[in-house]
Formats: sequence, C-alpha cells, structure tokens
Amino acid sequence: MDSDHIIMKSLQNDRLLRALQRQAVDVTPIWIMRQAGRYLPEYREIRARVKDFLTLCQTPELACEVTLQPLRRFPLDAAILFSDILTIPDAMGLGLYFSEGEGPSFERPIRNASDIKHLGVPDPHETLRYVMDAVTLIRQELDGRVPLIGFAGSPWTLATYMVEGGTTKNFSLVKGLMFEQPVAMHTLLDKLTQAITAYLNAQIAAGVQVIMIFDTWGGILTTRDYLDFSLPYLQQIVTNLIREHEGQTIPVILFTKEGNEWLEALAGTGCDAVGLDWKLPIGIARKRIGHQVALQGNMDPCILQASPARIREEVATILASFGSGSGHVFNLGHGIHPQVNPEHVKVLVEAVHTLSPAYHVS
Ligand code: CP3
Repeated sequence: MDSDHIIMKSLQNDRLLRALQRQAVDVTPIWIMRQAGRYLPEYREIRARVKDFLTLCQTPELACEVTLQPLRRFPLDAAILFSDILTIPDAMGLGLYFSEGEGPSFERPIRNASDIKHLGVPDPHETLRYVMDAVTLIRQELDGRVPLIGFAGSPWTLATYMVEGGTTKNFSLVKGLMFEQPVAMHTLLDKLTQAITAYLNAQIAAGVQVIMIFDTWGGILTTRDYLDFSLPYLQQIVTNLIREHEGQTIPVILFTKEGNEWLEALAGTGCDAVGLDWKLPIGIARKRIGHQVALQGNMDPCILQASPARIREEVATILASFGSGSGHVFNLGHGIHPQVNPEHVKVLVEAVHTLSPAYHVS
C-alpha cells in the first residue's frame, strides 16, 4: 500500500489520466486497442511457445511480459492489462477455449432460463486471482512510467458470447432469448453486472489506474433494446465502481462500438470518457458531448495498412477535427489488425506526439 502510493505519486507520464479528466496536457496521449497482440513478432514468438492463449492470460509472468512488449517498441502513453473479456464467463463455469483460427468458444453455453438460474457470481479474488496477480506484477515492472488500464466486457457483450457459445454472424440465439424471455435475459445481465463490478473493483484494488468497458456488440441492438438491455447495466457498473484509489481518481471509459446514436446517453452515465469507433468525425462527437466527457478514438484501423504519409495525414485530420484543448485520447476506432507492420505503429505514435502540441498551447 505504502510502496504503491510512492509509485502513484511519481507517475512519470500522467497525460492519459489528465486528458481523461480534461485537464491541460502538453501532448495528446495515445494508446492502441489490442496494442499487445499478433502484429508484433515478439508476441507471435511467445504464442508459438505457449500455444494456448488462455495459459498466456493465466500466467502472470507471461501476461506481464506481453503487456510490456509494445511499450518497449513505442513511446505509448499507457499500458493495458493483457487478458480477455471472456475470463468472467470462464470463471462462471462455461469452459472457455480458443481453437486455431476460429476465435473463442464455450463448452457449456447458456441456452435457457434454467441455465441462467444456476449461474453463480464468481469471487474475483478466487477464480480470477491470476488477473489480480498479473496487475500487481505489471505495476511493479512499469515502475510508474505510464498508467495501467484495466478492463472488462459489458454485460450485454458477454451475454452474446455466452448464449451463442462463441462468435456469431447474426446473433439469432441471443436475440431469440432476449425477445422471447426478457425476464431471464435481465437475470443474466444482472448477474453479469454484479460479476463485472466486483471484478473491476478488484482490479482497481490491485492497482489498475484507468478502467475501460468494451461494449463491442451493443451496436447490433435497436435503440429500444440498447436502452433496455445494454445501457442501464453500463450505468449500474459506473455507479458502483471505486472511483478513488491511492489518492487518485480512477477514470472510466465506456465504448459501445457502433454506438454513435447513443453518445449523449453514454455520456450521461457519469463515466469520464466515451470511446468512438471511426464512423463519426471526432469534432462532431465533441460538439455533441465534449462538454461532459473526454473522447477516445477514432482512427480507422485500416489506415495503418496505408503509407506512412497517409497515416500522418489522417492523424493531422483527426487532431484538427477535435481541435484545441484537452479531453482527447488518441486511439484506433477498434482493435489493431494482426497484419499491420509495427513500423507503421511507430509512425502513428510519433505523428500524434509531434503534431498535437500545436493544439495544447497554454
Ligand atoms: O488491448 C490489449 O492489448 C489488451 C488485451 C485484450 C485482448 N482482448 C487480448 C486478445 C483486450 C482488451 C481484449 C478484449 C476483447 N476480447 C474484446 C473487446 C474488444 C474488441 O475487440 O471488441 C472481445 C470482443 C474479445 C473476445 C475475443 N478474444 C475474440 C473475439 C478473440 C478472437 C479474435 C481475435 O482477435 O483473435 C479473442 C482472442 C484475443 N484476445 C487475442 C488477443 C491478443 C488473440 C489471441 C491470439 O493470440 O491468437
């Protein structure tokens, strides 16, 4: 506790924390969704050795090593815990596994009201202890260089994987359950909300300094269903998170992919920042909600496959669209693609750091 306090006080780069709270910064901070991952040869090397992705997440030394890999290459302004949103359903007993080239699957998906009734809420200090151990280790290794972001999936997004049993194209099973048995669906979302809140609070107690919630599949819902089955649960989590730790505010970022219609509602949850995909110019989002929250995003991930000159041009356009002042965290609009050349990531980070000071004259 005491040594943590010292680390916190001496955070060498606090641009991310400042921008999320819309306090003045010298440079726009940048981190990248999925910054640790398959586009890095050093990540692929570890994966070839460890084989099983879950083992990587469940071994704190390996999770720590992979978290730090992108920071050794690029002057990023944050680290993000290496883990996955599906660790919670796994801890609930669904049996998560990853098969080569197919993404995540569950051995025991949730298909009806009886399955939902029998689901327990996991104690994060027991079944998910490996995550907290990774957080402690990463904080030690970071030694106050940049803040550490912790995360979870939204209740709705976790429910889609749990009911479908894996990745899906049309969400027919989860939507079927929602339409036919809304009460059971709300029970599932309630249990997930409790599990996610306890899990994120345990991450904060272990040392994460920012929280991000990924609502990757909120955007497949009608407005009516989003406001019934996703947003209220995000709201409940925001309300029940520990927002102060080690004498510092813990900012919360909410990201509903393809959620541009609901930006005002997301900003109204009491979160500190809203993540944007690449569809809406960030300047328009700023006019709509930028007086309330910070904004994170919003470069199209495919731009990283274009030339360095085109990447710089896109960075300049996004920075100009946001305009002067704090409250912008540069990021992609979704995760980085595995085929990206790491040299292009270097170009991106440098472009943000060299072009953004013009927007932060004090
Ligand atoms: O951002 C980071 O660097 C931190 C680590 C992180 C991973 N997954 C590692 C991972 C984070 C924040 C996630 C979140 C996650 N996981 C989301 C929400 C964000 C988003 O992308 O919308 C979702 C929907 C998942 C579920 C998931 N995990 C899928 C669908 C897949 C397979 C598809 C894919 O990209 O491979 C995963 C596996 C996964 N999670 C990988 C990584 C690095 C690839 C695993 C591998 O090495 O093969």
